[in-house]
Amino acid sequence: MLKHFTHLKDFTIDELNRIIDSASDLKKSTHAVLPLAGKSLAFCFMNPSLRTQVSFSVATNALGGHPLILNLGSGGTWGMESVEGAVMDGTAAEHLKEAVPVLGRMCQGLGLRSFPTGKSWAEDRNEPALAAFIKYSTVPVINMESASGHPCQALADLMTIRERMPPKGKNFLLSWAPHIKALPMAVPNSSVEIASMAGMNVTIARPEGYDLDPEVMARVKKNCAMNGSTLRVTDKVPQAFDGQHVVYGKSWGSIANYGQAPSSDPAFRKKWTISAAKMKRADKAIFMHCLPVRRNLVVDDAVLDGPWSVVVDEAENRLHTAKAVLMYLLASQPKRMTAAARRHRK
Ligand code: CP
Repeated sequence: MLKHFTHLKDFTIDELNRIIDSASDLKKSTHAVLPLAGKSLAFCFMNPSLRTQVSFSVATNALGGHPLILNLGSGGTWGMESVEGAVMDGTAAEHLKEAVPVLGRMCQGLGLRSFPTGKSWAEDRNEPALAAFIKYSTVPVINMESASGHPCQALADLMTIRERMPPKGKNFLLSWAPHIKALPMAVPNSSVEIASMAGMNVTIARPEGYDLDPEVMARVKKNCAMNGSTLRVTDKVPQAFDGQHVVYGKSWGSIANYGQAPSSDPAFRKKWTISAAKMKRADKAIFMHCLPVRRNLVVDDAVLDGPWSVVVDEAENRLHTAKAVLMYLLASQPKRMTAAARRHRK
């Protein structure tokens, strides 16, 4: 069966831990392994990226493969339509129904970054572009951040935690932070999902109206119940920082006021910006953030430049986990059927 790496819910924690074990081995290894020799991978970006783009390019190269970075709709690649039945009289010149299988005839793996539009959560959460990649691809697909999840970031996050503490039974705080825009919920969703899968006690500190997606929360609740860990959602900061071992800072937009930027009221921002005073309440916690981060809005300089911050190590682990995901997907893939074989099967 064709393997994809698109949603955490498709995996058990043991499977995710095995991918992280492989990433840890690759991080330590000094031997060149070239399992992707002769393979080309197309990493398709509908939105900007630094870490994801560089980590998958470098990982593919390091494993002997050839990465192609395609900025869909800009940088010389056609704009893509993802909606079934769309009348294509707008900016998109090509439908993913053709583009994805075409890429699959030329490449052995595909990645997609596709952010939400910020117009309708009901539409965004269906992830039409990622769904089209999964539906029409004949080769493995990697979700490099969609509307609802960023599983590659979550792998690097758990690897970073594992390097510092055994996660089971430790306290994980996801703390909402101010921003100038309504950011996607992908990273906060995936961060609490993987923390709950790993048996951590999860606290989500957020202002009223900033609850995460109910489907993700249902899975987090189930994971915590299965693991005998706790789940708490609160608007009480700084108290939420007390006794935490991991503080994950992140801004995200409200589902209730979808697409609207959070308040810029200075008192509101001061309440939610992650400060050294808040970090000092935690239990010698590490501070994590997926990056990019806006200094002195999301989190103060004193935290990012202080003893708590592991954000650069966390970003480095994107490279090692990218290699491990590529190995997981491509090291033992069955050969794609040729057109002749497909005709024969019909
Ligand atoms: N964390 C992350 O995905 O970074 P980029 O958006 O720069 O890829």
